[in-house]
Amino acid sequence: MRKKVIAGNWKMNMLPNEAINFINEFAPLVKDTNNEVILCVPYTDLFYALLHVQETNIKIGAQNMHWETTGAYTGEISAEMLKSINVDYVIIGHSERRQYFAETDETVNKKVKKALAVGLKPIVCVGETLQEKEEGKTANVITTQTKLALEGLSPENVKNTIIAYEPIWAIGTGKTATAQDANESIKTIRKEIEENYGKDVAECVIIQYGGSVKSTNAKELFTTSDIDGGLVGGASLKPEEFAKIVNFDKE
Ligand code: PGA
Repeated sequence: MRKKVIAGNWKMNMLPNEAINFINEFAPLVKDTNNEVILCVPYTDLFYALLHVQETNIKIGAQNMHWETTGAYTGEISAEMLKSINVDYVIIGHSERRQYFAETDETVNKKVKKALAVGLKPIVCVGETLQEKEEGKTANVITTQTKLALEGLSPENVKNTIIAYEPIWAIGTGKTATAQDANESIKTIRKEIEENYGKDVAECVIIQYGGSVKSTNAKELFTTSDIDGGLVGGASLKPEEFAKIVNFDKE
């Protein structure tokens, strides 16, 4: 059975003192969960967050990285830098980065390879725009993005990669894909992985849903056959609300 993995994506929110307060309130609320709990925080919070989750079951992730090790890349952070302070996860290819910072399937692939090479677990985002959805292109878009993101990886590395299916029209809009539609899209992604890497790998890969996940819809989404948890934006900024999402399977 695949584990449920629930990751918060704080985006460009939370000063260090806010991050510390969040963790102090949130950690006791999720201490009994069997689900994997991750907070993907801004770079400036990483160090503080890592210190404050030490005695907890919470893991820390970054929201981006560069694929080179060192060099003249002003403003960038390398995978080695993240690994050196014990970051465990990194979001790669979020739609906001694809849209505002010119990330492409090619750069996503380079980043995924580098993250895995240094022992970071990538959370790779794929998803269709509203127009693509309306034109019936969802399956095509998400299988292509998945294939290109994972190109050249060994089956073992694919097993260590998390995919987050995030329909762009559902991010931050309050519109959630129905549990059934999200599950179907995730099955499509799993099938694509099966075709390229085999059934054993496809059955292991964690594929999350993201896009307006809230405590009121988490259970319905996360109890489907193929949705293995979520990547949560807005609702991960409030400790109680995010804890309810993590604890979707309690009572
Ligand atoms: P949202 O964001 O939960 O606020 O829709 C999800 C994401 O962008 O990862």
